[in-house]
Amino acid sequence: MKTKISASILSADFARLGDELSRAEKAGCDMIHFDVMDGHFVPNLSYGVPVLKSIRRCCDLPFDVHLMITDPLKYIDAFADAGADHITFHLEAEGDRRGIIEKIRSRGLGVGISVKPNTPAGELIPYIADIDMALVMTVEPGFGGQGFIPETLGKITEIRREAERLGLPLDIEVDGGIGKNTSKKVIAAGANVLVSGSYLFKSEDMAEAVRSLRG
Ligand code: DX5
Ligand code: ZN
Repeated sequence: MKTKISASILSADFARLGDELSRAEKAGCDMIHFDVMDGHFVPNLSYGVPVLKSIRRCCDLPFDVHLMITDPLKYIDAFADAGADHITFHLEAEGDRRGIIEKIRSRGLGVGISVKPNTPAGELIPYIADIDMALVMTVEPGFGGQGFIPETLGKITEIRREAERLGLPLDIEVDGGIGKNTSKKVIAAGANVLVSGSYLFKSEDMAEAVRSLRG
C-alpha cells in the first residue's frame, strides 16, 4: 500500500493559511487534515465550517476532516457543504455510530472512525467493514506537537491483521507525534495514511520532510 501523507494545518501559520496550503500541496502531500475541536470532547478549540469553506478554494487536495467533537451527527451536513472529502468521527463521541456512518455516506464522502490511545482496537473492529478509514490516535487528541505514544503500535497491527483477514482495503491513519523516526514504526505496524502537523509545518524544506515520512 502506498503511504499517503495528510498535512495537519493545526500547526500552520494561520495568518498565511492560503500560502501554507500551497506549500503542502507543492511539497507532495496527498491530503489536508482539518482538526475540528469543540472545547468539550477535547480541552481545546480550533476552527470549524467557515474556515473550511474559505480555504477549500485555495487548494485542490482532498480535505480529511477529523471531528474531535461531542455531537458529530449535528455537523455532518455543514462540513459536507463546506467541501469536506472525508469525515472521521470519534468512537468515544455521542450518538448512534451506524447512523453517523450512514449520514456521512449519504453525502458521498469517505467515512472514518477514530480511537483515542486508551480505547482498545476491539471496540473499533466491529465497524471496519462499513468504513473507509480507521484513525488510530497516537497522542491524546487536543493539541499538536505532543510526543508519540508507542503503546498504540500494537493496535495498528491488530486492526491491519483483522482488515486483511476480512479482505478489506481499509486505510489505517495515524495522528500525533509523526516525524521521520516514528513514521517508520507506524508503517511497519500497518498504517498507510500518516497525519503530520508540527514536523511538516516547522520544516525548512517540506518536500524533503514529506519524503522522509514516506520512508
Ligand atoms: C491532535 C490532532 C493532530 C495534530 C497532530 O489532536 O488531531 O492532527 O495536529 O499534530 P502533530 O503532528 O504536531 O503531533
Ligand atoms: Zn487530527
